[in-house]
Amino acid sequence: MNEVTAFETVQKALKPIRYEHTVRVTEEATRLVGIYGGNLEKIRLAAILHDYAKHRPIIEMRRKVQTCDKLPNAMLDYGDEILHSFVGAVFIEEELFITDETILSCIRSHTTGKVSMSLEEKIVFLADYIEPGRTFRQAEEVRKISDENLDLACLTALGNTIQYLSNKQLPIYPDTFAAYNDFVLR
Ligand SMILES: [Fe+2]
Ligand SMILES: [Fe+2]
Repeated sequence: MNEVTAFETVQKALKPIRYEHTVRVTEEATRLVGIYGGNLEKIRLAAILHDYAKHRPIIEMRRKVQTCDKLPNAMLDYGDEILHSFVGAVFIEEELFITDETILSCIRSHTTGKVSMSLEEKIVFLADYIEPGRTFRQAEEVRKISDENLDLACLTALGNTIQYLSNKQLPIYPDTFAAYNDFVLR
């Protein structure tokens, strides 16, 4: 799939405000590739498609988890916010026929992070966290760090996410802890 088709596809699938976020994530990811390298074509396609499933009915995403062998049922216990990443990667494979694992894994891990993140996964994860529409203080801080140190920026974003969720006494998906520990122990 080329970029023009990908943008057209998500424009139809997303509300305008989410589409605008997608455009900014793609621009931010491109900026990060300029600093850190990585496969620009795959990273941009992953960024364009990363929120493809964001507006799917929760019931549809939960049903997909229950029926798809690739998706562990345990993820249903960790809040609906994470579902669009994991289920989105499955929908993108099934509906848009994208099978490239680099692209799919960037989409899958963009909310939670994961252990041993690739350069491409780090860039999409971070671009989603720091795109200019994210105006909270922590995003500004991570944006500054992202100019200098990609791993430290990811670690800081993950730490912020863990803190935010624990302050609200919300469940934290194990992949997020795994990613956090992975970056800390490097
Ligand atoms: Fe997302
Ligand atoms: Fe996003």
